[in-house]
Amino acid sequence: MTQKHSTLGEFIIGNQKHFQYSSGELSRLINSIRLAAKVVNHEVNKAGLVDILGSAGDTNIQGETQQKLDVYANDIFMQTMTNRQIVCGIASEEEDNYVSIKSSNGKNDNKYVVLIDPLDGSSNVDVNVSVGTIFSIYRRVTPIGSPAQLEDFLQKGTEQVAAGYIVYGTSTMIVFTTGHGVNGFTLNPAIGTFYLSHPDMKFPEDGDIYSINEGNYVHFPQGVKDYLKYCQAEEDNRPYTSRYIGSLVSDFHRNMIKGGIYIYPTSTRSPKGKLRLLYECNPMAFLAEQANGVASDGYKRIMEIDPTELHQRVPFFCGSKNMVKVAEEFMAKYPENAKY
Ligand code: AHG
Ligand code: MN
Ligand code: MN
Repeated sequence: MTQKHSTLGEFIIGNQKHFQYSSGELSRLINSIRLAAKVVNHEVNKAGLVDILGSAGDTNIQGETQQKLDVYANDIFMQTMTNRQIVCGIASEEEDNYVSIKSSNGKNDNKYVVLIDPLDGSSNVDVNVSVGTIFSIYRRVTPIGSPAQLEDFLQKGTEQVAAGYIVYGTSTMIVFTTGHGVNGFTLNPAIGTFYLSHPDMKFPEDGDIYSINEGNYVHFPQGVKDYLKYCQAEEDNRPYTSRYIGSLVSDFHRNMIKGGIYIYPTSTRSPKGKLRLLYECNPMAFLAEQANGVASDGYKRIMEIDPTELHQRVPFFCGSKNMVKVAEEFMAKYPENAKY
């Protein structure tokens, strides 16, 4: 299926048959994301050179102060997909509500909705640490031709047609799945082309990295505290290594390549966890499962959670199969924490 040295454009054309209900619409959508990614990448890379840093002053719906680059990335992704009229609706972590989009003939006859975290890990921008973009694509459930509605966005993760992320790191990559494995493409900035650099990515089944904001230790549920002590114990191949960037995209990307577990649990400070089910956890869960990994809330599969609101938060345990399994065994000893 995958051909070495192919560009992202060639890959999309060559794998058209894998794109569900393919009419070229999903290919055009991924192409728009590719274009927006290049624009955002350009801006992220010059962030240290021009005065675009600092807070934009606005706070998003979660009450967090937005960095200027969050607003910029949000605008670019929203505009690119709106102008090209290839989706019937977009929901963004940076917007309070979803938007419905009309196609050129004035109707909403596109099939897909997109959910996006335009800039993930944005607090890392002004210290030159990698950030990302996360996207999730669903086929609408309301009739084609009508405005997109909330229920088009509140679908279980298992219904995703495609999902992926862009990591603006030492190199810029797009990593995505359409349900046929996970492939990673690296940007050659000299010519602005993404090349297939990481075909068929897989999480190693075991790993030795754990990624969690351990500063919150005293606020964690007992199952997480116990699991962390297990990670640090001198037994078998432990203690594990602790690595936490604070950009989900980057932490996930490293763990997928090297083998590891990422945890953002509930805590007394954030009783439902911090990460958003629709913009962050579901797309990462789809990628994880397609790469032989696991994503759960500590008790059950992330992608089977029935969403009730756009900005819903959930605890997130994601990574190498055997590591998540052990973490879940520790959590299972405290069934009272399964509700949040
Ligand atoms: P965002 O920048 O989109 O708000 O997401 C930040 C997320 C995630 O990327 C990261 O892993 C986590 O928040 C870090 O949170 P803490 O600073 O609480 O560890
Ligand atoms: Mn985020
Ligand atoms: Mn964000």
